[in-house]
Amino acid sequence: MCGIVGYVGERQGLGLALEALRRMEYRGYDSSGIAVNDGTIDVVKKAGKLANLEEILDPAALPGTTAIGHTRWATHGRPTDANAHPHVSFDGRVAIVHNGIIENFAPLRQELLDAGVTLHSDTDSEVASHLLARAYNEGETAGDFRASALAVLGRLEGAFTLLFTHADHPDQIIAARRSTPLIVGVGEGEMFLGSDVAAFIEYTRNAVELDQDNVVVITRDGYEVLNFDGSPAEGRPFTIDWDLAAAEKGGFDSFMMKEIHEQPAAVRDTLGGHFHDGRVFLDESRISEQDLKSVNQVFVVACGSAYHSGLLAKYAIEHWVRVPVQIEVASEFRYRDPVLDERTLVLAISQSGETADTLEAVRHARAQGAKVLAVCNTNGSQIPRESDAVLYTHAGPEIGVASTKAFLAQVAANYIVGLALAQAKGTKYPDEIAEIWQSLEEIPTRIEELLDVRGQVAGIAAELGAVQTMLFLGRGVGFPVALEGALKLKELAYIHAEGFPAGELKHGPIALIEEDLPVVVVVPSPRGVKLLHSKIVSNIQEIRARGARTIVIAEEGDEAVREFANYLIEIPATSSIMQPLLATVPLQFLAADIARQCGNEDIDKPRNLAKSVTVE
Ligand code: F6R
Repeated sequence: MCGIVGYVGERQGLGLALEALRRMEYRGYDSSGIAVNDGTIDVVKKAGKLANLEEILDPAALPGTTAIGHTRWATHGRPTDANAHPHVSFDGRVAIVHNGIIENFAPLRQELLDAGVTLHSDTDSEVASHLLARAYNEGETAGDFRASALAVLGRLEGAFTLLFTHADHPDQIIAARRSTPLIVGVGEGEMFLGSDVAAFIEYTRNAVELDQDNVVVITRDGYEVLNFDGSPAEGRPFTIDWDLAAAEKGGFDSFMMKEIHEQPAAVRDTLGGHFHDGRVFLDESRISEQDLKSVNQVFVVACGSAYHSGLLAKYAIEHWVRVPVQIEVASEFRYRDPVLDERTLVLAISQSGETADTLEAVRHARAQGAKVLAVCNTNGSQIPRESDAVLYTHAGPEIGVASTKAFLAQVAANYIVGLALAQAKGTKYPDEIAEIWQSLEEIPTRIEELLDVRGQVAGIAAELGAVQTMLFLGRGVGFPVALEGALKLKELAYIHAEGFPAGELKHGPIALIEEDLPVVVVVPSPRGVKLLHSKIVSNIQEIRARGARTIVIAEEGDEAVREFANYLIEIPATSSIMQPLLATVPLQFLAADIARQCGNEDIDKPRNLAKSVTVE
C-alpha cells in the first residue's frame, strides 16, 4: 500500500521519480506527489491518479537530482491535494513521504498544535515532517540531520516506511522501515529507495533488503544501514531476477490482460524443479521431511484471492494426505485463539508477502509453536522472512491490482505442498504422486489452449449487456472458483456478485433468482465424482426454471449440460482437482469484459484498492 521512491544521483530526480511512481502506481492511486531537493525543497502533488500529477508538472522547472516521491492509498484523510504526500515542514526545509500508519499521530499532532505549528492535512503522516524540522532546528540534535531523524523515529508508533529529505542536505536521503517494505537499489554513482524493486529495476539489478527497524542513509556514493538507536546494522544484498519487460505491458492493453496470458508460464515456472527422480522437492523451503512427517493438522491463512487458492489447498491436502485442514481469513485468525502446536503446519499464502493481516497471522502462529510455510511471489518480502520456510511462486511481478497469474501460481504451489506432505507421510504411493504430478504438469499447455476462449467470452459479455448483479455457483473444487469469479467481478466491474456452493442455493439464495439474472455455474468433470456432476446439472435446471441466464463452464464433451446452458464455455479435460486451474481463466476474462462494459476502462487499477495491503 502506497508506493515510495527516493533518488540521489546525477539524473533529474523529478523524471526518475515520476517513472518509478508509474511502475508502482498499482500500490495506490488516490494521489501522488514528488519533492525535489536542490538546496531548497519544491513539491508538486495532486489528488487522483498519476496522470493528474503529470498534467500539472513542468519537468524543466525542477532540474534537481535528489527527489522523493509517493503514490498514495488513503488511510487517514480523504484523497485530496492537501493530503497527498510529500508533506513539508512548517519552515519549508523538510519533506517526507510515508507508507503505513503512525498510530500515535493524535498526541503528536496535539503537541505540534500546542507549539503553534499549523498542520495542513488530515493525515497521520504530516506530523513527521514538523517533528523533524523541530528536532533539527533546536535542542540536542540541532543541525544534525541523522540524529534528528533518529530522534523522531524513536517517537513514532505503528507501521511505517518514511523517507526524509532536508534542504540543508540535498546530497542524502534518510529512510526507515518498521513493518512496511523498503528496498535499497545500488547503482554506480547513484542510489535508489523503493517500496519494491519496480521503482528502480530499469537502472540497477543490485538491491539490498533491510530488517525491521532499520534506518538507511543514502548518498550518491553508497548507503549505510543503522538501527533505530543509531548503532550499525547490515542490509542483505541480493540480485533482482525479474526483468524490465515483465514490468511493462508488452503489447497488451492492460497489465491484467498481459498477466492472464502469462498464466501458462506462471504455473510452469512455479512447478519447475520440484519433481525429479520420482520425488517431490520443496527445495527452496527450509522445512525438513521429518517436520512434514510429524504434521497432524494444517491451517491455511490468507486473504482475498490467496484465500480462495487456500480453499483449494484444503481440498487437495485433505484428499491426498488425510490430515484435517482448517482455512481461515488471515484477519480473523489470531483473534479467535486457534488451537495450534508444534505439529501444526500453517500455510501462509501471499502474493506480495507484505499483507499485514497475513503477516500478523504468521507471527501469532509461530508464537504458538506452529511451523509456518509461506507460499509467496515476492523475494525478500516480510512474510517469507518471518516464516520457518518458503515455497516461492514464480509468477513474476503482478502489476494488475486484481490477482490473476499469482492466483493460479498459488494453486499450483499449494498442490506441491500437498504432494510433498503426502510423500512425507506416505499417504500416496510414489506412482500415484507421479500420476498427479503429470496432470499438474500438463496444466500450462491446457491453459495455453484455453486462452483462445477470450473472443467467446467477449461475445457473451456483450450479450449480457448492462449487468447489475451476478451469481456464481460451484460444487467441490468448483466452489472456490465461483468465489474467485465473483471477487474478480466485484473488484473490476463494481457490481454486486456472490459465489455460493451450488447445493446451498435452495437454502436461501435461490430467492435472488429472477428473470434474466446471469448465473455462472462451474460444472465438475463428468469423469470425476458422478454424483457431484449430476447434482449440479439438477441445480442448473432449477435456476433455469426460474428464469436465470446460465453461463456454464464445463469440460469439453460434457453434453449433459448443453441443453441447460444459455452460454456454454468449454474448458479442456483434466482431473477434477486440476480443473480450477482452467475454470478460473474464462471468469477472469468475463470480469474484465463486463468491467469495460460498465465503463471501468482502467481494469488495472480498480477504485479503492491497492496491490499490497500493509495495514490491518
Ligand atoms: C484480489 C486480490 C486480493 C489479494 C489479497 C491478498 O484480486 O488481489 O484479494 O489476493 O489482498 O494479497 P496477497 O496475496 O499479496 O497477500
